[in-house]
Order: sequence, then C-alpha cells, then structure tokens
Amino acid sequence: MSMKFPFIKNNKQKEETDVELDHVPEHVAIIMDGNGRWAKRRGLPRVAGHKEGVHAVNKVVRASAKANVKILTLYAFSTENWKRPKSEIDFLMKLPKEFLHIYLPEIMENNVKIQTIGEFDALPGHTKEAVQYAIDKTKDNDGLLLNFALNYGGRYEIMRAIKQILNDVDCSKLSVDALDENIFNNYLYTNGQKDPDLLIRTSGEQRLSNFLLWQSAYTEFWFTDTLWPDFDEKVLWQALEEFQQRKRRFGGL
Ligand code: FPP
Repeated sequence: MSMKFPFIKNNKQKEETDVELDHVPEHVAIIMDGNGRWAKRRGLPRVAGHKEGVHAVNKVVRASAKANVKILTLYAFSTENWKRPKSEIDFLMKLPKEFLHIYLPEIMENNVKIQTIGEFDALPGHTKEAVQYAIDKTKDNDGLLLNFALNYGGRYEIMRAIKQILNDVDCSKLSVDALDENIFNNYLYTNGQKDPDLLIRTSGEQRLSNFLLWQSAYTEFWFTDTLWPDFDEKVLWQALEEFQQRKRRFGGL
C-alpha cells in the first residue's frame, strides 16, 4: 500500500510524494538541529527556537506513528550540550516536561511508548521526574517506541559498555571468547533494539556529532536544510520517500 502526501517542491511546483507503507524504515533516528538559527532569523532569543522545536517533536512523533515506523530516536540533549550557557541548559531541561504536559494525552492515544537512552541519573530531578512519569504511564503501549536521547553520547555509551563487559568478565558472568557483536549490543542503551535504518539531520549540517556511533554502521543518512522548528510531516515523508529509493547492500553485492 502506498500513501500519497502533497507537498510543495522547489517552493512553487505542487507535487505528490509516494511512500510505500510496507517499506518504511523500522527505526528512524533524528538529530534535531537548527533551533538557534530559526530563532536568530526572527530576531528572537535562541531558546525561542527550542520552545518551537517541542511542537515539531510532536509532529514527527505523530507522523511516524501514522507511517508505522517502529522506533523513533530523537537526539534531545548530548553529553556535549553541557558546555552551553547554564541558562540555555536550564531551559532545555524544562522542555521534556513542557512537551509531556501538552502532548502526553496524544501520545497515549497513539499507543506510543516512551523510553530514554543516555545517562538518565545525571539529569536534574524535575526532568527525571517528568520523563519517568511518562515512561511509567506509556510502558504498556506497544505501538511506536519513542526514544529520547537525553544526556546521550555515543563514545560514552561504548566506553560504558566496555567497562561493564570487563566487570562481567572479571566476575565470570561473561567469557572473552563468548563476546561478539550481538553480545556487545546488549551492553548498549539501545539493547534489544534494531539499529537505525535511517538517520535524519536537519539544518544543513552533515555530521554525526557523537550520535549512535556503534548503531549507525549501516544506517542511511538523509540531510535537509530545514531547521528543526520547521520540520513536519511533509519533510519526514520526503525523507521516507528518498530512503525507499536507496539500495542497501550491507557490504554485500
Ligand atoms: C540543536 O539546535 C538542538 C538542541 C541542542 C536541542 C534539541 C531539543 C529540542 C528540539 C526540543 C526537545 C524536546 C523534547 C520534547 C525533549 P541548536 O541549538 O544547536 O541550533 P543552532 O545550531 O541553530 O544554534
């Protein structure tokens, strides 16, 4: 089955995009970038872009659920984002609560299950409380899995896995000979989840920025100039359509 979605291409020509619903990427990961520039272009403080970005998060969650994506992983706060001014960090840390306050009823209606990846314990208490509430509330939903990457860093995740593995080898829970890529996967935050099929980065930047380093070995990348607060269903549809035209060989022929 395919779904048609009208959108404006080249700002003028009205066209339609075709997304084959039985060939949708199972796991979509997004680096939500460009909030600051969105605000600057409007003469607003940077945080106004983050605030607007919250609504784009809901649009992409809703559209992903509709397209039958199984896992959506959103890079909301990286381990490097702690270098930002305290006032901006404080603002960013309030966004999960704001998002959930507005959109948790819709998330429940859409059967979305919320989880996080990253160092959850190091987040401020009020952030943890709001997110934990949503995790508990949505735990029995079995539709789209929404992973918020909060205080997430790919290198940290790999190092953490190595430390846990060494520990397990040390106390004979794991033998070095038994260790392989599948077992290594079990030590990552994304334990048990399929690797991302498609990774989207907004705002014209084309780098990974320490996101899902291990998991993105065979991920298709798609970049758009759209700034995150302007991201919506149409842009997601464009990404899905382009993904469907890619030939994935996973190193084979
Ligand atoms: C990058 O844009 C964006 C972030 C560091 C924060 C992303 C957070 C959101 C979109 C809202 C999160 C919402 C929830 C529900 C957790 P930037 O500030 O680096 O933009 P710039 O490169 O234009 O300065």
